Amino acid sequence: MSLVPQKRSRPSLPVGPTRDGMESTKFPDIGLFLVERKMGSSRRSFLTALARRKGFCVEEAYSERVTHVIAEHNSGAEVMQWLVGQPAKREEGRSPILLHISWFTECMAAGEPVKIEPRHLLEVQMHSDVAVSSLVATYGCLRRTPLTNRNHVFTDALETLAKEAAFCGSEGRSLAFIRAASVLRSLPSTLTTMEELSRMPGFGEHSKRVVQEILEDGSSAEVERVTQEERYQTMKLFTNIFGVGIKTANKWYQEGLRSIGDLRNSQKKLKLTKQQETGLQHYEDLTMPVSHTEADLIAKMVEEVAHRFLPGTIITLAGGFRRGKLSGHDVDILITHPQEGREEGLLSKVISQLQSQGLILYHSLKRNSYYDASSPGGKSTSSMDHFEGSFSIFKLKGLSQSRDNGARVHSTDSGRDWKAVRVDLVVTPISQYPFALLGWTGSKHFERELRRFSSHEKKMVLNSHALYDTVQQTFLAATSEEDIFMHLGLEYIPPSDRNA
Ligand code: UTP
Ligand code: MN
Repeated sequence: MSLVPQKRSRPSLPVGPTRDGMESTKFPDIGLFLVERKMGSSRRSFLTALARRKGFCVEEAYSERVTHVIAEHNSGAEVMQWLVGQPAKREEGRSPILLHISWFTECMAAGEPVKIEPRHLLEVQMHSDVAVSSLVATYGCLRRTPLTNRNHVFTDALETLAKEAAFCGSEGRSLAFIRAASVLRSLPSTLTTMEELSRMPGFGEHSKRVVQEILEDGSSAEVERVTQEERYQTMKLFTNIFGVGIKTANKWYQEGLRSIGDLRNSQKKLKLTKQQETGLQHYEDLTMPVSHTEADLIAKMVEEVAHRFLPGTIITLAGGFRRGKLSGHDVDILITHPQEGREEGLLSKVISQLQSQGLILYHSLKRNSYYDASSPGGKSTSSMDHFEGSFSIFKLKGLSQSRDNGARVHSTDSGRDWKAVRVDLVVTPISQYPFALLGWTGSKHFERELRRFSSHEKKMVLNSHALYDTVQQTFLAATSEEDIFMHLGLEYIPPSDRNA
């Protein structure tokens, strides 16, 4: 898309009252509109009067005469969301250009419209993929998705179908349902009509049909049928076991196994991996939600041990808890140190120490994928033996003595004062920390959308270690998550709005 708006003739102004402060319209092809949202009405009035004195035409209301929309402290996505909610009808292809206030200020200083530079554009304007006719931004990372979901009835149904598709090996179909659900999760209110849905991205015929059925009948017959199916129920049960994927679950289903009891009874025949064995052994604990209090206790436990070996180590609770979730299926912890390189070797020491205290029920170290030759900027093999993380199961003790609200361990065995909890530990050098933090905060779909946006719209590769510009062939450094959003030309979305 051209960065300079196409010259187009504006419909002539209707005869009406003259506008205060307007001397004459020097630039008849331009119709400015100042977005009041976050600008405030008094600043808007002041800027309107200023522009009119300089000979610009400023529209009070958003109409088809508007060619340039100017906003302050708003993202492109926010402005777009506001605009499409406006009643003004526009012809196809006659969308106004969305600009940052800096363009307006420079015009006022120059006394005429200045050339529009990329830095003046509100980001969505640069992406043809982000349909202006749509009510919601196409990419999940352009939307704010708080925890509060007002469309559970629809998203639960779509997510059931997403799961079912994944169980059948149809990843693409599964993702289509996930995308549709994510759009609905970002809505500030409950969907009530199919008309609203028609203005939303990411809805294929199948997802639409499901929503329509729920709107009309209160439920979807297809979803009801799927949830009753023995195969779906069994696959859901088995894939919930730590270390069990779709392939293994399906194999067991084909062999006639149906319950956790069935698996335990035929455990000898099943040739389980160590991970699956532990998963099965602690199945009840591991499928019980982990509370925020429990997550904090585990983070504290890791911090204490890490500080013994390396004072100054920084421990951060990431994953769903960082997004504001009150419970989760595991605890995701990032470990770094302000001095680059000091973190090396720390993880195995921490794990060994916890192991010697009998606090680790299972653990497996994984190598730092950053050093893989296949990843951008693959490094020398001298670092090949470094580990960046550990998938573990901790034995969380002592909670039953705690008087903390809701902190009691809900043990399944009577008299047991501990609970098995899944913990993912990730160690990162401080230079990669912002990328790791962004990558491990999730949600999974938000991350997927960030990476899709990066590669499709920016020709950049984003992962939990780095951001690589494939055009400039350079790595883009960051000292905070904000820096990464900035490199991508995205408005910063705080963790609490990343529940896509
Ligand atoms: P989780 O699966 O733990 O999700 O991954 P969550 O949002 O915390 O959900 P609950 O509350 O535990 O159920 C957390 C983040 O870490 C990333 C995921 O993409 C997600 O963004 N992650 C997870 C990785 O990058 N790599 C992994 O191997 C695992
Ligand atoms: Mn998690």
